[in-house]
Amino acid sequence: MTLETSFRLSNEYSRQLDQADPLRELRKEFYIPKHGVYLCGNSLGLQPVGTRTLVLEELEVWKQQGVTGHFDHPHGRPWVSMDEQVTAKMANVVGALPSEIAVMGSLTANLHLLMASFYRPKGERTKIVIEEKAFPSDHVCRVACATC
Ligand SMILES: Cc1ncc(COP(=O)(O)O)c(C=O)c1O
Repeated sequence: MTLETSFRLSNEYSRQLDQADPLRELRKEFYIPKHGVYLCGNSLGLQPVGTRTLVLEELEVWKQQGVTGHFDHPHGRPWVSMDEQVTAKMANVVGALPSEIAVMGSLTANLHLLMASFYRPKGERTKIVIEEKAFPSDHVCRVACATC
């Protein structure tokens, strides 16, 4: 079977695609390393330009206010409801209702919680398939959950 595409391997075609990309304006919001082409699919993507400022702001709030930063935040980002600030956007990303979304934890912890909650091997479907060189913590989670 041959996959027909209009893809062409050339700089000119790449520039055309860049021009037509509706997200192209977002490029300037990230630091892009100068070495080669950056195609990292892991969760540590490019650093957003605004990251340093935001992290320093949070450290300053923590320094000035301690625990009260949970409720009283000078930049309008009270820590206690931090997850609610992104719930609607995340619902859009994953195609769920906002009431079905919980933004929490790390990738590894969430994967482990999902597997422990929903992985119920029975019948012929008893295997967890994962690539050979998976991210180390994904592999550990798979091994741990095989005996959940
Ligand atoms: C595929 C994959 N799995 C797991 C992780 C670990 O993520 P976390 O530190 O949020 O548990 C990463 C982080 O880069 C990742 O890319």
